[in-house]
Amino acid sequence: MSSTRENTIAPLRRLRRLRRTEAMRDLVRETHVSLSDLIHPLFIEEHINQAVPISTLPGICRLPESALADEIQRLYALGIRYVMPFGISHTKDPQGSDTWNDNGLLARMIRTIKATAPEMMVIPDICFCEYTDHGHCGVLHQDEVCNDQTVANLVKQSVTAAKAGADMLAPSAMMDGQIKAIRQGLDEAGFEHVAILAHAAKFASSFYGPFRAAVDCELSGNRKGYQLDYANGRQALLEALLDEEEGADILMVKPGTPYLDVLSRLRQETHLPLAAYQVGGEYAGIKFAALAGALDERAVVTETFIGLKRAGADLIVSYYTKQYAEWLAELR
Ligand code: PBG
Ligand code: ZN
Repeated sequence: MSSTRENTIAPLRRLRRLRRTEAMRDLVRETHVSLSDLIHPLFIEEHINQAVPISTLPGICRLPESALADEIQRLYALGIRYVMPFGISHTKDPQGSDTWNDNGLLARMIRTIKATAPEMMVIPDICFCEYTDHGHCGVLHQDEVCNDQTVANLVKQSVTAAKAGADMLAPSAMMDGQIKAIRQGLDEAGFEHVAILAHAAKFASSFYGPFRAAVDCELSGNRKGYQLDYANGRQALLEALLDEEEGADILMVKPGTPYLDVLSRLRQETHLPLAAYQVGGEYAGIKFAALAGALDERAVVTETFIGLKRAGADLIVSYYTKQYAEWLAELR
């Protein structure tokens, strides 16, 4: 017998065999990320002439509406095929009625994008907080957001967005029954082909802080009366599975990185595609650390994308989408 066989310290299985070379690691890699997994959020402001850098999200700007078409051309040329426009309104009222005006900011953004790059999929955020003067995600009665009245308004907004050419809608208001009502409203208006990406498990998170600064929605109070308590994993699954029953096409968990457990549990419970939203606070955490020289930005961003996908996400909404596309373009 050879001495190595007699050696009881020798491992039974040497997993390092599959890690020896780049080629071997590539061969057995389980999880991949590409531009067809990534959705790019856009901040578009009406009535301004110049891009406004967002101090809480370095590298991200609020773009004037007049610059939208050019930006869409740049994004499309980079290989980005999915955008999620957020409007920054100067036409606010208590209901957010600009969102169901056929000539309002939401409808105009969608039409501009589809006219510029018909192949670019437009997936608008469907909510009211950027269009209400109080900053809440619906109609206020005293201090509470009125669920059913808000849902009725969400249906009007959704039909307006579909009419303007949206390919998929991303309702984020967290009202009960919103997916069912929107699905029915779309179908009745002849938009049965328009898909719904539901913000299914959206937590009341402090990671939204940089985003609120970005969209200029100063809020009195908080959203804990309608968004999920971040301590509740089971309730998050209930929320998400209800959205599936109500007709959602894709279920999203938001934020991403602190909620990988929810993603991975949801992956076991549904056969729908899953999405993760890497929110402003997650972006800012990486970006500011990178600016301080504390970490390798590209490597860390890639690791977070892979982590989200490994946990169960098929697609990711991220402020790093454009930067990621630029990194890929440098490789070519
Ligand atoms: C509001 C909305 C929020 C985000 C997207 N849509 C935040 C909130 O609930 O205040 C968060 C996005 C981010 O933080 O990047 N409907
Ligand atoms: Zn909102």
